[in-house]
Amino acid sequence: ARPKIVECRRMPTEILKRLSDEGKIELVSWGGKDGQGQAPATREWVLENIEGAWGVIVMLSEKVDQEFLEAAGPSLRVVSTMSVGYDHIDLDACKKRGVKVGNTPHVLDDAVAELTLTLALMATRQIPSASRLVREGRWAESPWSPLSFCGPSIKGKTIGFLGFGNISQSLAHLLVPFKPSRIIYTTSKPKPFDITSSDFAPLADGSFPTDRIVISNQPEIGKLAEESDVIFVLASFNQHTKHIVDEAFLRRMKPTAYLVNSSRGPLVDTEALAKAISQGWIAGAGLDVLENEPNIPASHPLLQADCVDKVVILPHIGSATNETRFAMAELAARNILGGVGLLEGMVYEV
Ligand code: GLV
Ligand code: GLV
Repeated sequence: ARPKIVECRRMPTEILKRLSDEGKIELVSWGGKDGQGQAPATREWVLENIEGAWGVIVMLSEKVDQEFLEAAGPSLRVVSTMSVGYDHIDLDACKKRGVKVGNTPHVLDDAVAELTLTLALMATRQIPSASRLVREGRWAESPWSPLSFCGPSIKGKTIGFLGFGNISQSLAHLLVPFKPSRIIYTTSKPKPFDITSSDFAPLADGSFPTDRIVISNQPEIGKLAEESDVIFVLASFNQHTKHIVDEAFLRRMKPTAYLVNSSRGPLVDTEALAKAISQGWIAGAGLDVLENEPNIPASHPLLQADCVDKVVILPHIGSATNETRFAMAELAARNILGGVGLLEGMVYEV
């Protein structure tokens, strides 16, 4: 039989359609109300259509749990997610059924790093309130003055990373020209930092020149909270990292410091963050992700008057460059075809 492959979003790639046209696969695609297949598939559609599938391509919006796996049935060999994160997938349940899981790492590192840096610059330089002033035609209410819209520079500051995986390391390289004095990080998966930039070059004795940037592992996260001027949360979400930034962490941060999260919303306790910002424990935040996204009503605590001008919130667009999204789609398609045996192996298997 031809392998049945279900895509829960119309993938911006040719390979699946071509194989379908050639009769090599049976391709079932979510079309959506608009026929474009860009809006998330409904759960009902997914459960109905994955029966008998060999492979299913999912997004972050599709929960792959017992119910999903049972609906697919014993034919299922592979689930391929168009994302680097896979906290929406029950890996143990997949493993028990012999279902392989593919994801799309690496091709998004630079795009997410760029967006994360953008969030930090936007938050520290007060871009939301400054930009709003102009958009609302109120520039004259706050003409140039020595201290209006001032925020901290990156230069000379201590930058903290919670998680120092591929995206953090890309971001660390981007930060070098901004001349921070220190980069400190905590990581559960230690791996040597790739010192390819000459700015990172150590002296002959292996130490770092003090007029450049000191990079060090700081496994005690409370200390990282205390010492950093900007903290980047870039770790994967799991039972160990839920609310890793909690009230105690936020209370230890400097009142002048900023928190930036572009990994997963539940790494940060939202309620505590709103309190930290409204009560001045920290200066502000840049967020590309939020707990309970995408269901964020205008009544959300971070969108209220005592917070809103100190936060930049974006709707999870970290990897959204044209180049990266096409590369992710291609990888997701190749993972599914490798997983069902139409290509030689998967490119990335979790
Ligand atoms: C996006 O958040 C991803 O995991 O790719
Ligand atoms: C997780 O991403 C880590 O590097 O610790």
